[in-house]
Formats: sequence, structure tokens, C-alpha cells
Amino acid sequence: MKVLILISVCLIVEAFGASLPKAEINNRTFPESFRWGAATAAYQIEGGWNEDGKGESMWDHFTHANPNVTDDKLNGDVACDSYHKWREDIQLIKELGVSLYRFSVSWTRILPTGYLDSYNQAGVDYYVNFVKGLLDEGITPMVTLYHWDLPQVLNEQGGWLNDSTADRFGEYSRIVFENLGPFVKLWSTVNEPKTTCMLGYGSGENAPGIKQIGTAIYQCARVQLLAHATAYHIYHNEFAAEQGGQISLVIDATFNEPDTDSEADAEAAERETQFNLGWYANPVYVGDWPQIMIDRIGNRSTQEGFSESRLPAWSAEEIEFVKGTHDYFGLNMYTALRVSAVGEAEIGEPNYYNDKGTAVAFGSDWTPSVASWLASYPYGMRGLLNYVWNHYKPGEIYVTENGWATDGEINDQSRIDYLQGYLSNMLDAILDDGVNVAGYTTWSLMDNFEWARGYTQKYGIISVDFNSRNRTRTFKESAKWYQHTVRTYCLVDECVE
Ligand SMILES: *[C@@H]1O[C@H](CO)[C@@H](O)[C@H](O)[C@H]1NC(C)=O
Ligand SMILES: *[C@@H]1O[C@H](CO)[C@@H](O)[C@H](O)[C@H]1NC(C)=O
Ligand SMILES: *[C@@H]1O[C@H](CO)[C@@H](O)[C@H](O)[C@H]1NC(C)=O
Ligand SMILES: *[C@@H]1O[C@H](CO)[C@@H](O)[C@H](O)[C@H]1NC(C)=O
Ligand SMILES: *[C@@H]1O[C@H](CO)[C@@H](O)[C@H](O)[C@H]1NC(C)=O
Repeated sequence: MKVLILISVCLIVEAFGASLPKAEINNRTFPESFRWGAATAAYQIEGGWNEDGKGESMWDHFTHANPNVTDDKLNGDVACDSYHKWREDIQLIKELGVSLYRFSVSWTRILPTGYLDSYNQAGVDYYVNFVKGLLDEGITPMVTLYHWDLPQVLNEQGGWLNDSTADRFGEYSRIVFENLGPFVKLWSTVNEPKTTCMLGYGSGENAPGIKQIGTAIYQCARVQLLAHATAYHIYHNEFAAEQGGQISLVIDATFNEPDTDSEADAEAAERETQFNLGWYANPVYVGDWPQIMIDRIGNRSTQEGFSESRLPAWSAEEIEFVKGTHDYFGLNMYTALRVSAVGEAEIGEPNYYNDKGTAVAFGSDWTPSVASWLASYPYGMRGLLNYVWNHYKPGEIYVTENGWATDGEINDQSRIDYLQGYLSNMLDAILDDGVNVAGYTTWSLMDNFEWARGYTQKYGIISVDFNSRNRTRTFKESAKWYQHTVRTYCLVDECVE
């Protein structure tokens, strides 16, 4: 592994040439308008899974039905107990010094079954109090409407495979806009639709545990994009004029680097990007699926004997409905990949990876040596920001997630290295390439329930003691480093306010 990594580093430096000398931290300052923040999500921190009228989400159901779905057999029933400790959390955010807090609303607190007739005032009140509490401390709320916790009742009716879920999402969103809209000016609809589809409906690792990697994932993408567009149009038709906020989708993507300078690897890297980023960005920012997906999935579907493509075709009306539904670009970015071409896979079981026809390295390999490699060569952030800026012309980008997992140690130098490197690379994109990155909400404010990994992966800059009933919070070294960055708008120790 180590050898491979050393080779890769040389290739990367070569590929970018002298224009991108890495490992040197940019010591200039971020623009004054830059917004610093931190991020969380409801199921990952709140707990209180059945309190005050909350209904069962598909993650409650998934983890209760079989504890084996998480590495440590634990679930989000209590998590960080933020449902009760929200006042303390606001004080932590204030102490950190950030001006932006990205969090998600739990659909089943607002509509316990997912249907309008189950409206739950206590759930609405909880979030109204919370956003007012943030605003009282000068913290801007950035609200995600959906971060993976679908009402279980809707899941039982097909969930993200059923087009009608998009309508239910619209109804839920309208209630949230009505109640939180007077206080919230920055919204995102759906968080990481790709990961929801790939892990929830492809590998089956996440809720609802469906394993249809060649079929359900494409229908899931369609329904989540329809849901996103439905909420976007409701906001713009009914609320935006009065409330004046912005709303967009949050897409997770990697930066994809050709493994060699061969033509085939260059094509493979671009194909990887289309199947990864373009899958969701193209319908919203350009219109329709990426052509390469239409061609390849259509072709393989025919050969497999399907009567129509496994990638559901949009109608002309649907293309128009989804196209242009963005006020900024919400980007979650954790890593870069090295991509190589592979020969055309034989026709057999339908499979996204054969549809894509690429091989990637470092995708899911989180060994310590990879960690230090990524921390030292975070070049992909600049590359991806430039790609998004040039291909989708979004006007404004928020990096809504970026972060590093450790075992939870307080002295977390590897996280500092990672954040410093990625932010430095982001600053290059802002100052040298003219990419308008408006803000950054690091993942995560605190250690939390990391889905199928349970509590084994700790992404927080603030530690949470999951062995104490108090869920005691403690600033890690990275939180102190981030405090300094947020104060000085600068990534090196030498900077002063
Ligand atoms: C969980 O895993 C254990 C050990 O592999 C197994 O014995 C048990 O049957 C599993 N439980 C369920 C509900 O699948
Ligand atoms: C989709 O949801 C609707 C209710 O909105 C339900 O009537 C229908 O049976 C569902 N379809 C599937 C395939 O589950
Ligand atoms: C479909 O795939 C086959 C086998 O890889 C290839 O020969 C053919 O050119 C492809 N056709 C299209 C339209 O992509
Ligand atoms: C509970 O945790 C908070 C920090 O999260 C800490 O300030 C407080 O002292 C703790 N209380 C107890 C009784 O441990
Ligand atoms: C930034 O780097 C330049 C060039 O290495 C150096 O001259 C300058 O003093 C540095 N500024 C800070 C604030 O570290």
C-alpha cells in the first residue's frame, strides 16, 4: 500500500505541473464575506427518537430490526442527545466562533407518518426554538430538509422508489418553510442523494437495506431529484418573494484524477465524474442525465434483455421541471480518487460499476497511510471546485461537508493536517482561480452516529463521551485550530486577528 501511495504522489505532482505546488499551506486570508461553519444531521446527533410525538424513521426501523446493520450494533436512539442538549450545543457553536450552523430537520418530528394529517406541533416548536436560539447568538441557520431519515410509513410504500414520495416531500417542505421560513434564509433540500441511493438501494449497507445495484439506484435518483425540484418550486412559488432565502441540492462528489496520462484513463476519469457528480448535477444544472450514462446504461440494458433502459428516461416536462432548480451549489467533498479504464464487463447481472466501466483507487480505503497521504495532498479540492465552477456555472458554491474520521483522540493532529490542507487548496481556488466559494461547514461539529459505522468513526472537531449519560462535549485540538482560523480567516499560526 505504501509503495502505491508514493507512486501516486509523484503522478499527481506531475499531472498538475508547477502550477499546483502542494504541501505548502496558503497563508493569505479568506475574503471578509467568507462564512465559516460546522455541520450535523438530525438522526446522527439528536436522539429522542420517539419523544414528543416523533414518528419512526427508516433509520429507527432499520437499526431496531437488526442491530447487526451497524459495526458496533448501536443506533441513534440517544446519539449525542442533542434533542435535549440543544441549548448547550448553541453555546458550543458560539464558542467555536462560526457564523453558520448546518443541521437537518427530522421529517418524522414534523409529520410522524410522512402524511399531512399526522402534523406534530411539538416537533415544529422544537425547531422554531432552536433556530431562534441560534439567531439570538448571531449564528445563521443553514437547514437541510432531508438527511436520510425518511418516515418509515413512506418507506413501506416504496420510499425513494415511489414517485409519490416526491409529493410527500413537497408537503413536508411547505410546512417547514411556513414555520421556519421567517428565520431561515439558507436551505438545502436533499443531502447526498447519490449516497442515499448507492448505500440504501444498491449495497444495502444503509437504510432501507435494498440491494439492487443495477436498477433501484437509478429509480431512487429519479425520485430524489423530483423531490428536490418539487421543494425548490414550492419555495420559489410560495415563499421566496417574502422570505428571500436561497435553496439548493447538496451533492457529494470526489475529484477524479486519471491514473496515467493515457487517453483511456482520461476518458475513464471523466466518465467517473459523470456517473458520480454529473448523475445529480446534470439534471439540475444542465438538464437530463449525462449523455454518457444514457448511452452506456441504455446499451447494456438492451444487451441484458430489458425492454427499456434501467436508467429511467425523463419526460420533456420532467427535464424542464428539474432543470435550473438551484440558487447555489452545495458540495460535499472528502477525497480524490485515481481512476483507470477497465475493459467492457461481460453482460450479466445489472451493475452500476459495470455501467460505469472504471476502476478507482483509495475509494473506500481509510488506512492511516492513506490518511496522511490525503492530508498532505489535498489537491482534489481545488480541482473539484474548478470543475463544478466551470461545468455548472453555479454563481456560488458552499462546501457543505468536508472532514476527517479518527478514533476520537483529543489530540487530533491528523484532522488538523487534513483541514488545513483542504482549506488551503480551497483558498487557492478562491484567490487564484476566481471560484466563488461563499462558505464552508466542516463535517462535523461533534462526534456522532456515523450510519453503518455506528460510533466507530469519529468525525467531530468536538468530542462526545458516549459512555457518559451526560454525553459530555470536549473541544479537540482541531476545534481550537478551527477557532483560530475562524477568527483570523487564515490557516497558519502566524496570522493574528
Ligand atoms: C447478528 O449477527 C450475529 C453474529 O453474526 C448472528 O448470530 C445473529 O443471528 C445476527 N442477528 C440478526 C438479527 O441477523
Ligand atoms: C406508492 O405510493 C402510493 C401512495 O402514495 C401507493 O398507493 C402505491 O401503492 C405505492 N406504490 C408502490 C409500488 O408501493
Ligand atoms: C454498445 O456496446 C457494445 C459492446 O461494448 C459496443 O460495441 C457498441 O458500440 C455500443 N453501442 C453504443 C450505441 O454505445
Ligand atoms: C455535562 O457535559 C458538559 C459538557 O458537555 C459539562 O460542561 C458538564 O460539566 C457535564 N456535567 C456532568 C455532571 O458531568
Ligand atoms: C506568507 O508567506 C510569505 C512567503 O513565504 C511570507 O513572506 C509572509 O511573511 C507569510 N505571511 C504570514 C502571515 O505568515
